[in-house]
Amino acid sequence: MSVRKAVIPAAGYGTRFLPATKAVPKEMLPIVDRPTIEYIVAECARAGLDDVLVVTASGKAAIEDHFDRSLELEAALEAKGKQAALAMVRDLATLATVHAVRQGEQLGLGHAVLQAAAHVGDHSFAVLLGDDIVDPDDDLLERMVAAHEATGRAVVALMEVADDDVDKYGIAQVGERADDGSVSITGLVEKPDPADAPSNYAVIGRYVLPGSIFDVLRSTAPGAGGEIQLTDALEALAADEPIVGIVLEGIRHDAGDKLGFLEATIDFALRRDDLGPRLAEHLRDLVATRLA
Ligand code: UTP
Repeated sequence: MSVRKAVIPAAGYGTRFLPATKAVPKEMLPIVDRPTIEYIVAECARAGLDDVLVVTASGKAAIEDHFDRSLELEAALEAKGKQAALAMVRDLATLATVHAVRQGEQLGLGHAVLQAAAHVGDHSFAVLLGDDIVDPDDDLLERMVAAHEATGRAVVALMEVADDDVDKYGIAQVGERADDGSVSITGLVEKPDPADAPSNYAVIGRYVLPGSIFDVLRSTAPGAGGEIQLTDALEALAADEPIVGIVLEGIRHDAGDKLGFLEATIDFALRRDDLGPRLAEHLRDLVATRLA
């Protein structure tokens, strides 16, 4: 039951970010100076998941190149004496072992996860959506892996959302919240009307799943939007035995959404010693002049 592998579905079209994503994968759009997906691979590495499979698609080879060595660039940096840049570029290739598999046709998130079956085998594994960024100081993924290793059950990350926002997410039907912050999930409802929502706990892009999910996915019929939905497979799992929800208390950004991406950029830039103080000053000036 020990979890070593992570799967990052990153084959989507990123239509919310067109035209930027016409030729550049949305996972490669930089938050400050690192592509979005690098934050996610770093999160895997922090949680001890050093074998990462990215599910990509045609036109997304830049993702693989980013995590590969680039001997030509390294030689050029060495020749110019740019040691700090050289170390940064080399470190990238050692963050985790990054593999890639293609999803030939974008038939949905569940179908993307299914492309990982041969790589993952029967083992339990984590799934991290390629555009969902969790605060690097948060140990959400570690807590999820620990919960899976203790129970053997599927684990999903949850976030409490406002009543008005429940219709944007998959919402969990939950039991009591335990002392360790986990809840038992007995059902999931995709984008419910606020009046019908079973709770305010929204499923966000982190999952730890048993290898048996692949068989469930193989028999999952296309659902919303004609796509094979991971949520439908999870619902089938939850019908057999409750799945575990781990509640995120800290910050998470939906970097696949324009506003979420801007918020993530400002958040991460403000944390940086080299950029934060001057950016804060600029933001204060902007607010004073534009919003006065
Ligand atoms: P999203 O719906 O957020 O991503 O899917 P998208 O389709 O790329 O973006 P928009 O909505 O058109 O702007 C959630 C995650 O599932 C992956 C996406 O790459 C994203 O990480 N996904 C989705 C796949 O890998 N394959 C699919 O067929 C669908």
